[in-house]
Formats: sequence, C-alpha cells, structure tokens
Amino acid sequence: MDSIGIGLAGFGTVGSGVYKNLEANRALLAQRLGAEFEIRRIAVRGLAKPRSVPAPAGLFTTDLGELLTDPEIRVVVELIGGIDAALPFVRDAIRAGKIVITGNKALLAEHGAELFQLARERRTPIFYEAAVAGGIPIIKTVREAFIANRFESIHGILNGTSNYILTRMTDAGLDFADALAEAQSLGYAEADPTLDVNGWDAAHKAIILASLAYGFWVRSEDVYVAGIDRLTRDDVKFAAQLGYVVKLLSTIKADASSAIEVRVCPTLIPKSHVLASVHGVFNAVWLRGDVVGEALFYGRGAGQDPTASSVIADLAETVVALKSPRRCYGFTSHDLYGKLKPSEDAVSQFYLRLLVDDTPGVLAQIAGILGDAGIGISSVIQPESHEPGPLPLVLMIHDATFGRMRAAAAEIAALGCVKAEPTLLPVENFT
Ligand SMILES: NC(=O)c1ccc[n+]([C@@H]2O[C@H](COP(=O)([O-])OP(=O)(O)OC[C@H]3O[C@@H](n4cnc5c(N)ncnc54)[C@H](OP(=O)(O)O)[C@@H]3O)[C@@H](O)[C@H]2O)c1
Repeated sequence: MDSIGIGLAGFGTVGSGVYKNLEANRALLAQRLGAEFEIRRIAVRGLAKPRSVPAPAGLFTTDLGELLTDPEIRVVVELIGGIDAALPFVRDAIRAGKIVITGNKALLAEHGAELFQLARERRTPIFYEAAVAGGIPIIKTVREAFIANRFESIHGILNGTSNYILTRMTDAGLDFADALAEAQSLGYAEADPTLDVNGWDAAHKAIILASLAYGFWVRSEDVYVAGIDRLTRDDVKFAAQLGYVVKLLSTIKADASSAIEVRVCPTLIPKSHVLASVHGVFNAVWLRGDVVGEALFYGRGAGQDPTASSVIADLAETVVALKSPRRCYGFTSHDLYGKLKPSEDAVSQFYLRLLVDDTPGVLAQIAGILGDAGIGISSVIQPESHEPGPLPLVLMIHDATFGRMRAAAAEIAALGCVKAEPTLLPVENFT
C-alpha cells in the first residue's frame, strides 16, 4: 500500500481535527483509498501550548520550512490562516513541488490568481474544499459534478455566525448587539467577530465560488460587500410583515450577456424560498445550472469535524493526483464566458427604510425623487404611532440598478424631513 507523507501546518481548530479524524478513520481510509496517510511534521506557533488533541511531541516544529525540505512530505496542508505567513509558505510549497491543501479563503480570494498560475506552471495542484462552506462539498461539486453546466446563478448563505445572529433577531426579536453577544457566549462567534459580521468572510468564499464557476478571477475590490452590523430588529420585523426574511446572501448571477455580478449583503428573500429555512449556524448553497436545473446543498459551514471532513476529502484527491499528475490543478481558468459586471449596473428590487417627520407631503417628496430617477414604488408601509416624533417609512421598490437606487437614496437622505441614514437592502425573488 502507498504511504503518502503529509506536512500539517497548523494544529488549531481545523488542523487538530484533521489529525484526530485521520487517526480515528485510518483503517477505513486505507481500505477505501488503497493508500495510507502519514503525518510527518506538524508546524505550530508555540510548542508549549496545551493541545486538546494528543499527538507525538516529536512531530511538532515551529519552523514551517521543515515541511518543505523533507522529501517524503508530498502534500502540505495549510491550516494556519491569515495571509502573512500562509502566502510565502504556500508559494514555497508549490515551488518545492508539493501538493497544497488549504482551508484559507482569505488567501485564495486575495491571491488565488497568482497561486493557481504558479500551480499550473509547476504542475502541482491546490485543493481547497474547506475554504468554502466548511463541510459542504461545494467546490468539488461545482468543479466536477456540474462540469456540464453553465451557471445561471449561485446563491449562498456562507457565514454561520451571521446566519445565527439573523436567526435570533428574527425568531426572538433580539437586536444585533444582543444576538452577537449570545453567539459569542455559545462559541459561534469569535471574540473579534469583525470578518463575520462585516460580510468579508462570506465575500471571500463567494469570490472563490464565482471564480471557479466562471473561470476568471474576481477581484475583491470589484465586489459589493456589506455586513449585518447596521441591521436593526425593525428591518427584520418589517421584512417579516412583507413576507420576507433577511439573510446575509452571497449572490453570484450571470445575465443574458454573461456579465457576472458578485455581491454579499443583507438581502430580503421570500419566506417561502428554501434558503429562508436555513437557520442558525448552518450554511447552504442553492444554484441553477443550464443542464442540471436547481440544486441545493446544506450543512455545517464551520467547526472542527465538518471542516476536517472536507480537508480529508482533499487528501483523498491527492491519492488520485499523485497517480495521474496532470489531471487537475484545482482551478481551470477557461475564460470561456463571463466578465464581471460593475456593482452599480446590477439590477434588483429594493427595500428602503426611512425615518421621517410625521407631516403631510413627506411621501410626495420622496416619491418625487424616485419618480424623477425612473424608479417605481411597489408598496409602502408606515406603521401608525401615537407618540410624537419621527416615524419609520418603508418602501418596496421595483427593479432598479444599484447605481440609480443609491443615488436616489442619497438624495432622499438629504431631505429635511428625513431624520436618519436610510437603510437600503436588495430584495431577491430568485426569478
Ligand atoms: N475554524 C473553522 O471552523 C474553519 C472552517 C473553514 C475554514 N477554516 C480555515 O482554516 C484555517 C485554520 O483555521 P483554524 O480555525 O483552525 O485556526 P486556529 O484555530 O487559529 O489555528 C491556527 C493554527 O496555526 C498555527 N499557526 C499560526 N501561525 C503560524 C505560523 N506562522 N507558523 C506555524 N504555525 C502557525 C497556530 O499555532 P498555535 O496552535 O501554536 O497557536 C494554530 O495551531 C483558516 O484559514 C480558516 O479560515 C476554518
């Protein structure tokens, strides 16, 4: 039986999970794959740190370079995260002819174009199933199972922390800060939850998915990204009254001319849509291919074991790749169709929430600005209040470009009768 030497970079949540599950299922994997994995080195930052998963002390090193100089190590698994140490390490690993497995979405979203080009030149693959949607095998699915398809759209709930917070704002009426504190107390949110709640963790995953589906690298600066951190429970409540739920939705969509829009932001989706039933920390990807039609993938998007499941699936890929080296480098830059659509040109329906003076003529002023911009209103809600002071006013807007809608919202915000920054969210009806 072949033995495949592995260098494991990182022994945190995911790295130790990979080690633990490789040990637990050693015989099963050997039987299924006809090969054995041998972890030869584990790189960490601190040798003295207590480890919840036991591993022989002799395997540990603080020198990432040791994983590259051992000729018996054919595969390196990068699970250190971040860019500063990971980028030079992955570059050097590819140059050293190692197969690379990584779960690092930030690294691939920011440097994927360079790394995959290098991998192609050196004819050594990069596998990255764990980088998008944790335990859901969406990368292999898009790359292989759906190879026959052109993708009309891919929609994802790709950040479990945000989805947990939104679920609690919807079901328990919590405000953002309380729902975040609860997520932190349950271990669903990091002490520093910035990348989760500002949308960028999900955006990194959407960039990787879009790049893979359309065969050109999407630049992060061209993607519209907004997080859930400015959302109020009023928005969640008004959305519910209108028949919607709010999700941090990753939208990847091709129009008739194959211009691709990629955006990640809080979005109203109909309560009846299958993605509206994705609650708590779960992730889901719902896509439409021209051959397969609609397909849905659901599961745990993070956590030690689900993520390790995806990393081990990539290890299984390396068995095949080592036997037929030129089969796949992990990303095929085909450029057959698709170019990025500027986010200002993307078209959507919108939800616009304003806080306005309770005086006659306010709606007419707002409708006038929208009318002059050629933007139609489909419905209006203004809850009655017996309190003095400004009132919320919610408008549902027909199809408009983001550019025109943002300009109109800015003009409305400048009206004297508008008392706070408007909240503008797209509405996705999946038509
Ligand atoms: N956690 C998840 O559920 C999840 C899901 C999907 C993808 N990912 C991705 O998987 C990667 C790892 O995440 P994680 O949650 O396992 O991170 P983590 O718990 O913070 O673990 C990071 C590990 O890398 C080691 N490390 C960091 N910098 C290093 C350096 N310069 N040299 C050597 N070792 C270094 C750390 O060593 P010490 O232990 O000594 O500090 C630690 O063992 C990230 O890219 C993350 O985005 C995570």
